[in-house]
Amino acid sequence: MTRRLALITGASSGIGAAFARLYASHGYDLAVTARRADRLARLADEVRLRHGVEILIVPADLADPGAADAILGEIAAHGRVVDALINNAGYGTPGAYAASAWVDQRAFLQVLLLAVCELTHKVLPGMAERRFGRIVNVASLAGLIPGGAGSALYGATKAFLVSFSQSLHLEARAAGVHVSALCPGFTYSEFHDVNQTREVIGERAPPWMWLGADEVAAAGYEAVEANRPICVPGAPNKAIAAVAKLLPDEWGMALMARRSAPRGRL
Ligand SMILES: NC(=O)c1ccc[n+]([C@@H]2O[C@H](COP(=O)([O-])OP(=O)(O)OC[C@H]3O[C@@H](n4cnc5c(N)ncnc54)[C@H](OP(=O)(O)O)[C@@H]3O)[C@@H](O)[C@H]2O)c1
Repeated sequence: MTRRLALITGASSGIGAAFARLYASHGYDLAVTARRADRLARLADEVRLRHGVEILIVPADLADPGAADAILGEIAAHGRVVDALINNAGYGTPGAYAASAWVDQRAFLQVLLLAVCELTHKVLPGMAERRFGRIVNVASLAGLIPGGAGSALYGATKAFLVSFSQSLHLEARAAGVHVSALCPGFTYSEFHDVNQTREVIGERAPPWMWLGADEVAAAGYEAVEANRPICVPGAPNKAIAAVAKLLPDEWGMALMARRSAPRGRL
């Protein structure tokens, strides 16, 4: 019998690579995508050796509006369908919104929002027809708390992903398709190196606030298997999300005014 296949975006590092190892350990074949093909190839060698599953490497830049079709076309060309979709690729764009170039903000929306929406839209009908599907949208704790200064689109896209996942969760459950938003807090990965906030975040966030990428992926896997619409991994993050829900907006905004600051001027 053919194994199920999981498509994982942003699998070249961090949470995405952890998801790839995890899904392979549960017997899934993988289609892994990101821009760094060499990193995907190394991951594929390791995972094949350890779990004996098939891995399709599909390098792509999700900022390219044609990327979703190219990825799904490559999977279809191998005669495969997507049974699990992990929309994980992402990065941060620190800086005041109006001080950053529009071309960069547009690319950000393409990667973190449009690619997610398009991949989901294109795999969901097949999942529903086969009465099996798993979709994890990697959002963030930032999507569950008030927006802060200095990362306007980041919190907004993650809040979108939470709401989007909740709606899809309700729409798809009768068809056997599970949809979850995974909302990690600080996670050890390359995220804070890529956006060059490692030092400043390291100073602000104590070690107990950090989780490993493996723990985060494991929480996401468990949540989507149980078909829980939202998963916040880790007790401190759960507490922050719960408090944010109860706080009046003005209090939340006052807290964010103290805890966040834009890098760069308007
Ligand atoms: N780390 C945290 O503290 C944290 C907290 C909450 C939420 N998250 C979310 O978790 C997800 C994974 O991040 P991470 O922490 O694992 O960071 P990471 O280690 O930097 O991994 C990010 C992944 O996204 C891929 N990616 C970035 N831009 C891309 C593009 N244009 N096209 C295709 N792939 C792209 C990267 O691959 P290439 O560079 O090879 O393309 C990489 O595989 C993100 O959605 C992030 O917002 C992270």
